[in-house]
Amino acid sequence: MSKLLEGKRGIITGALDQNSIAWKVAEKAHEHGATFVLTNAPIAMRMGEINELAAKTNSKIIPADATSTEELQKLFTEAQEILGGKIDFVLHSIGMSVNIRKNIPYQDLNYDFFQKGIDVSALSLHKMLSVAKNMDAINEWGSVVALTYAAAQRTYPFYTDMADIKAMLESIARSFGYHYGLEKKVRINTVSQSPTKTTAGSGIKGFGDFYDYADAIAPLGNASAEDCANYCISLFSDLTRMVTMQNLFHDGGYSTTGVSDVIMKKFGI
Ligand SMILES: NC(=O)c1ccc[n+]([C@@H]2O[C@H](COP(=O)([O-])OP(=O)(O)OC[C@H]3O[C@@H](n4cnc5c(N)ncnc54)[C@H](O)[C@@H]3O)[C@@H](O)[C@H]2O)c1
Repeated sequence: MSKLLEGKRGIITGALDQNSIAWKVAEKAHEHGATFVLTNAPIAMRMGEINELAAKTNSKIIPADATSTEELQKLFTEAQEILGGKIDFVLHSIGMSVNIRKNIPYQDLNYDFFQKGIDVSALSLHKMLSVAKNMDAINEWGSVVALTYAAAQRTYPFYTDMADIKAMLESIARSFGYHYGLEKKVRINTVSQSPTKTTAGSGIKGFGDFYDYADAIAPLGNASAEDCANYCISLFSDLTRMVTMQNLFHDGGYSTTGVSDVIMKKFGI
């Protein structure tokens, strides 16, 4: 296997446990010869599983709450010290909605929870990029990928405020992608992933049924976390150096399928 990330240095957020998409990205990045630091919110560290990933991928962990500019500055400073130079790739794999956790319907959203969701899941990307750019911490042709979901374009009632938050995340990737691209040739994309059985995913009401529905629509079936990781590796690599400001669907064809034979049969057609 040719190693696509040999000599590259990265920051990987969001690896909570073995099901996390970020966990798979870290494993693949390691296989592809990258060195990187792992980071997550201090509270997530207490679960301890990230230590196992750090040992396996020979990487250090830097706790950082992605809503805190100060902690992000510390993250980028320490990451460069540990890795011995500027950063080549960043994975933003952070999502949390208190409204979803508490099962609050879209029409009755709690606005404090909504603000919290925006801060954690969308503004954190802006803060990360702003900190990195001000510190000039990312190499030219570096690549930033943030994970998103198709509810940013189409309505999924149970996805409540995260639909609006993901739309904002995708917009930040585009807008910042313009400025960072122009000034430093850093590229920024979002990957719109299939439903995936992770802690964040499974917290959504009716997730199991919806997972099966999406799988029955997509001609290739749902994309797994491991496939998503492979896609992220390609986006971190030099093979995709002219791709930026895009929202890229990684969903087995789900987003462009109107209806599938499997679904038609369920209606007896
Ligand atoms: N699972 C799915 O079905 C699915 C589908 C499309 C997109 N996504 C997106 O993929 C990303 C990763 O989620 P996942 O499914 O791997 O679930 P996950 O629960 O494993 O990961 C979410 C991560 O966000 C971290 N986080 C929360 N608050 C934070 C903060 N303040 N600072 C730093 N980190 C914080 C959590 O600790 C956790 O590691 C999210 O953006 C999610 O919306 C998930």
